[in-house]
Amino acid sequence: MIKVEGLTRVYGSYTAVDDVSFECQPGKVTGFLGPNGAGKTTTMRVMVGLTPPTKGTATIDGRLYSHLPNPGRHVGVLLDASAQHGGRTGREVLMLGAMTMGLPATRVDEMLEMVSLTPAESRRRTKNYSLGMKQRLGIAHALLGDPQVLILDEPANGLDPAGIRWMRGLLKSYADRGGTVLLSSHLLHEVELIADEMILIGNGRIVAQGDRRSLLANAGPEQSLVTALDNDALTKALAAKGLHPQVAGEGLRVDCPTVEVGRTAVENGIVLTDLRSGDGGLEELFLQLTADTQREGVVA
Ligand SMILES: Nc1ncnc2c1ncn2[C@@H]1O[C@H](COP(=O)(O)OP(=O)(O)O)[C@@H](O)[C@H]1O
Ligand SMILES: [Mg+2]
Repeated sequence: MIKVEGLTRVYGSYTAVDDVSFECQPGKVTGFLGPNGAGKTTTMRVMVGLTPPTKGTATIDGRLYSHLPNPGRHVGVLLDASAQHGGRTGREVLMLGAMTMGLPATRVDEMLEMVSLTPAESRRRTKNYSLGMKQRLGIAHALLGDPQVLILDEPANGLDPAGIRWMRGLLKSYADRGGTVLLSSHLLHEVELIADEMILIGNGRIVAQGDRRSLLANAGPEQSLVTALDNDALTKALAAKGLHPQVAGEGLRVDCPTVEVGRTAVENGIVLTDLRSGDGGLEELFLQLTADTQREGVVA
């Protein structure tokens, strides 16, 4: 497991990471969420010994990364998929990793297959790879040594929707087999479907952490998204209860739990074709908590 305690990193007079503490448990995917510049990459770089901390520690299975013998067998790391020697082929990158970790060459083929890089693609130089292909190669490299812990910085960047779904499945099953996953993202939607736990960071500080449910409990009012055969009738019925539904796409967005919308529909004999939780709460929470790190002004 991963343990970060009182981690601080100062650059000159600027505090990039400010007294950050959290843990990532085995069998769980932990999402590390925050806007650009929040301090995610710096935190992860400290974890794997690339940036010395100003204060505090980050340990993996109780040890500093630099104290791990053959670290690739313990921790799979993907920080910057583009940071590859462009003249090497994907296969060469993995082969070098396998040699460094003392793994058989067959492991390289297994990994290439797992990340769906074809034999022809694996023989191309990485400078000609798309960002999505580099991410796949990076994930293959991280998993090469069959580690128990994965640290991935924005691994979904550059992946197409099918690629993002593929990665979600891969990380979920890795965690289901007992692995510990920490993955960062600046996009809530990328993480919320997969993360068991979420850590929200803004301006170098942890602003909230917990599972979806406990985060939502602290979030703003619950929202529902609903579509009825007769949206006007539903609007009237909800308005009669003091609610103010707003048009959203083909349906309506209402500031109340889904059960309230369902009840109103039943009471008024209105047929619903779609009813789901709007999740506005979590997104609102994310934007509010990290507002002072956002580049775009957040309208309160
Ligand atoms: N080597 C460095 N020197 C000076 N400032 C840095 C350095 N690395 C990161 N920073 C600053 O620290 C802050 C956090 O950066 P980073 O950890 O990359 O954020 P994130 O990954 O969440 O986008 C940013 O303001 C960034 O400019
Ligand atoms: Mg970053």
